[in-house]
This record gives sequence, C-alpha cells and structure tokens, in this order.
Amino acid sequence: MTDQPEDPTQATDGAAPADAPPPAAPAVLGARRPVLIAVVVVVVLGVVIALGTGILGGAPTATNPISATTDSIDRGATTYANSCARCHGVDAHGGGVDSGTTSVPPPALSGPSSHLTAHSDGDLFTFIHDGLPGGMPQWAGTLSDNQIWDVINFLRSLKGS
Ligand code: HEC
Repeated sequence: MTDQPEDPTQATDGAAPADAPPPAAPAVLGARRPVLIAVVVVVVLGVVIALGTGILGGAPTATNPISATTDSIDRGATTYANSCARCHGVDAHGGGVDSGTTSVPPPALSGPSSHLTAHSDGDLFTFIHDGLPGGMPQWAGTLSDNQIWDVINFLRSLKGS
C-alpha cells in the first residue's frame, strides 16, 4: 500500500454531521432510581436465599440424606446400569459403549484410576445433577434427587473395586 497523495479537489467543506444518538434522558431514570435499587436488592436477596435453601437446583444439602442401606444401593445399581454404564462402563471402570461420543472420555468412577473418594457426596450430587462440560449429561429432570443420592451410595459401595 502506497500513500495516496491528498487530492486538493476533494473538497471537505462542511464536515458531515456526526450521527451521534440523541442524548439519553437521565431525568426519568433518576426519578425512579430508588425504586429500581429496591427492586434489585429484593431480587438479589431472593436468589441468594433460594440458592442457599436449594430451591434453585444444585445440591439441596451438602451431605447425603439417604442412608446407604442395601435397598438404596440396589436402587442405585439399577439406575447406574440404565443411565450411566453406557459411558462409564458396566463395572464403572470407564470405557462404556458410548464413551467415544464425548469430548472428554468418561472417567472411571471406580477402580484404581478413579478419584471419586476425593469428592464429597455433595460434589458428586452437583456433578450428576447439573452435568459437566466435557459431555457429562445433566440428570436433573431425568432422575429425582433421591435417585441421584442412591447412585452415589451405589458408587461408594464399590469401595474403589
Ligand atoms: C454420555 C455419556 C455419559 C453418561 C450417560 C454419564 N456420564 Fe458421567 N461423565 C461423562 C463425562 C464425559 C464426564 C467427564 C466430564 C468432564 O470432566 O467435563 C463424566 C463425569 C462424571 C463424574 C465426575 C467424575 C470425576 O471423577 O470427577 C461423575 C461422578 C459422573 N460422571 C457420574 C455419572 C452418573 C452417576 C451417571 C448416570 C446417572 C453418568 N455419569 C452418566 C459422561 C457420561
């Protein structure tokens, strides 16, 4: 690219009017500002309280409310076989039939390469309930909270074997 010499015949008389937007009318917003602030405060508080009490998704409690009875573990094993084995493997060691379909390979949930014991039940609940970016589906809406806790009891019952 070479410099274009300025053409003196190209008159630049009268700069084109800048098409700036008309100034906003701050007076209207200003008059209503206290009301707006009050509404925002109420909404933010409401969301914080809802999150804290588990009304809006997430782990309703950090600890597992379902005790790991044989019944719970059996129910969890059925849910695992129906919903999880296709990715995490029938023995929970990874490598299920659909394990090639996700951007991150579904990790082992038991066995030597699993690090499930590093996570609390509340963490596992959140992973299962909300899903994970690498291809772990969100199970909220498909599984009830109690079914998720049962699956966690089942996975814990494998004791890494
Ligand atoms: C479509 C395949 C797929 C299915 C079905 C699936 N998962 Fe996953 N899961 C994944 C992937 C992929 C990851 C890793 C995601 C990541 O790291 O971003 C994962 C991660 C997890 C983790 C976190 C493990 C860790 O070590 O951090 C848990 C726990 C888990 N899945 C449990 C389950 C349970 C329980 C089910 C059945 C209700 C299930 N998954 C069904 C693909 C699947």
